[in-house]
Amino acid sequence: MIPQEVIDEIKSRTDVLEVIGDFVNLKKNGSNFRGYSPFNNERTPSFYVVPSKGFFKDFSSGKAGDAITFLMDAEGMSYVEALKHLAKKYGIDIPEEEVTDEELEARNERDSVFIVMKYAAEYYQNNLWKQEEGKSIGLTYLRERGFSDETIQNFSLGYSLDQWDGLMQSALKKGYKKEYLAKAGLIIQKEENNREYDRFRGRVMFPVHNISGRVLAFGARILGKGQPKYLNSPETLIYHKSDVLYGLYQAKQTIRMEDNCYLVEGYTDVISLYQAGVKNAVASSGTSLTQEQIRLIGRYTQNVTVLFDSDPAGLKASFRGIDMILEGGLQVKAVMLPVGEDPDSLARRLDASELRTFLKENRTDFIGFKTKIFQEEAEKDPIRRAALIKEIVASIAKVPDPIQRQVYIKATSTQLEIDEQVLVTEMNKIHLKEQRATQRREMLMEEEAQPTPEVVPPDQGEDLTNVQPGIYFKEREVIRVLVLYGQQPIQLQPEESSSVASSEGSLEDTTEPIKVYDYIYHELEDVNIQTPVYQGIFNLYREKTLAGVTVTEAWLAQHGAEEIKQEVIDLVVDHYVLSENWELLHNIYVTREQDILHQVIQRSILELKFSYLGQLMDEQRQKLKETTDEVDQFQILKDFQMLKESQQEIAKVLGIVIV
Ligand code: UTP
Ligand code: MN
Repeated sequence: MIPQEVIDEIKSRTDVLEVIGDFVNLKKNGSNFRGYSPFNNERTPSFYVVPSKGFFKDFSSGKAGDAITFLMDAEGMSYVEALKHLAKKYGIDIPEEEVTDEELEARNERDSVFIVMKYAAEYYQNNLWKQEEGKSIGLTYLRERGFSDETIQNFSLGYSLDQWDGLMQSALKKGYKKEYLAKAGLIIQKEENNREYDRFRGRVMFPVHNISGRVLAFGARILGKGQPKYLNSPETLIYHKSDVLYGLYQAKQTIRMEDNCYLVEGYTDVISLYQAGVKNAVASSGTSLTQEQIRLIGRYTQNVTVLFDSDPAGLKASFRGIDMILEGGLQVKAVMLPVGEDPDSLARRLDASELRTFLKENRTDFIGFKTKIFQEEAEKDPIRRAALIKEIVASIAKVPDPIQRQVYIKATSTQLEIDEQVLVTEMNKIHLKEQRATQRREMLMEEEAQPTPEVVPPDQGEDLTNVQPGIYFKEREVIRVLVLYGQQPIQLQPEESSSVASSEGSLEDTTEPIKVYDYIYHELEDVNIQTPVYQGIFNLYREKTLAGVTVTEAWLAQHGAEEIKQEVIDLVVDHYVLSENWELLHNIYVTREQDILHQVIQRSILELKFSYLGQLMDEQRQKLKETTDEVDQFQILKDFQMLKESQQEIAKVLGIVIV
């Protein structure tokens, strides 16, 4: 357990901008910062950080929170890992803890799997550096391959002893549970004969890290002959092969600095390039590239350079995956390697500066590169020319930016000596086809969809089902005012206060300034807030204020229950980001809410009351439909009339015309 005072210290030192800035490219946007969402692959940045409040919000996914939430949501850390990350960043000591404590603390299975993977990585490393077998077999092999000790350490390489259950025995002795060793894919449990043994034996171990450096999986290379050459971890709770790029943890800093990411095939390619000074290479580990992997790269750079082996069959197979990178809006370059070489062998053969020169001089734009490859083929076989055009145009059609598509069309037209119009027509065909497919999909979806009101409040569980959208939004507005301005004083003018809607008039007699929250409490005394989370905020605010706490948005975001915390952060960030963007966008000075606080509060309360009255009127209408008793009907009509009059009075103040 991390002691509370250490947690407090970490939190007080944490600067949300510094923390998130390590992972997301942020640009100043007024007094806030803006960047591309780490949660979605997007073309217009919609991820905001509000440093003055310590919050972020991602408008593409709706996620919001503080630095710790960010590390958990975007970087896949557990709560404890996030705290440790921050402690390390700010040089705060966390007292050493026992392994078993950590295990105890693991809040879910995923955490437990992470913990045993961490142990396994340490165990394999220890074998490599400290055990006779590891040193004489594993370490010798790696050194003979040309990996320096520093490189071996940078990639945390290890060795699994040639024993049936070396890892399992060692882990059990340390108190790790067999269940999690199995769930981590480290041991294999055979049901037939009840036998359990290590998955990896007598192999060099390549740990696969996530972007925050936690071990997710292993690739294990056999020494000498045998099959398979590489044995990989299975998919587990924490390892989804298609979401991970090998080497990204080690490469991400350089990728951002050089604004380019090299894409290669395997472990050894990444490592050799790194050792040769090309520290921005990642590998997709066997599978063809996925959207998730492209999104990951997109968080650090918009430029990808793919290193291609010169084997023609392999080349064309890898082109498919590249179209997906183009579709993601990234710029793709290609480098063709010399015949018979892979990045690993090239990096070992050349020295660092030769390698750099080679990469720089052989770098071409991907579309041009692909065109050239197909062109060479078509020269030998004229029938293939039509197919070639389709092939190239299909890639160009993936590029989301129309201007860039135009540039590619021009270049390809020159390169192939084909009229531009031919290419454009071909591209339009593809786009039309895609459009039709989308339309069909959308129509099918519409048919299935239920009719929904125009604006739907976010899903907050079953409780919300009977809160009308109109009321939800009005409640949100009042709570927003309470959260943002609750502690500020306002000066009530007797004639200005809401004599219309308030039942008793005690506040109107005073000319002493009062707090905004007092005003709101008083106005909403006889009202029941319907949206559960807003009721929660309202009640917590009142309860704590009565107990002498100065409740602010920061206090609520710190001490509120999870859904309260989320909602408060959301309200605050919406407020700061949206209002400021409005100003920047329209280049006008929007009257600050601050300056007209009084009206803002009064208006939000009146609008809410207006909506409540509308709801009560609906109820009366419903009752009227359901009764045949004349006396009842008379009473209902009388009640209805009263509600209507109150609503009209409010409408007058608000300047609304009701029909
Ligand atoms: P290589 O066959 O070149 O592996 O595959 P290597 O370890 O470099 O072997 P040698 O020394 O050249 O003979 C290159 C990359 O392809 C992936 C690995 O990531 C490897 O680094 N690979 C290869 C696998 O994932 N599985 C395999 O069975 C083979
Ligand atoms: Mn190789």
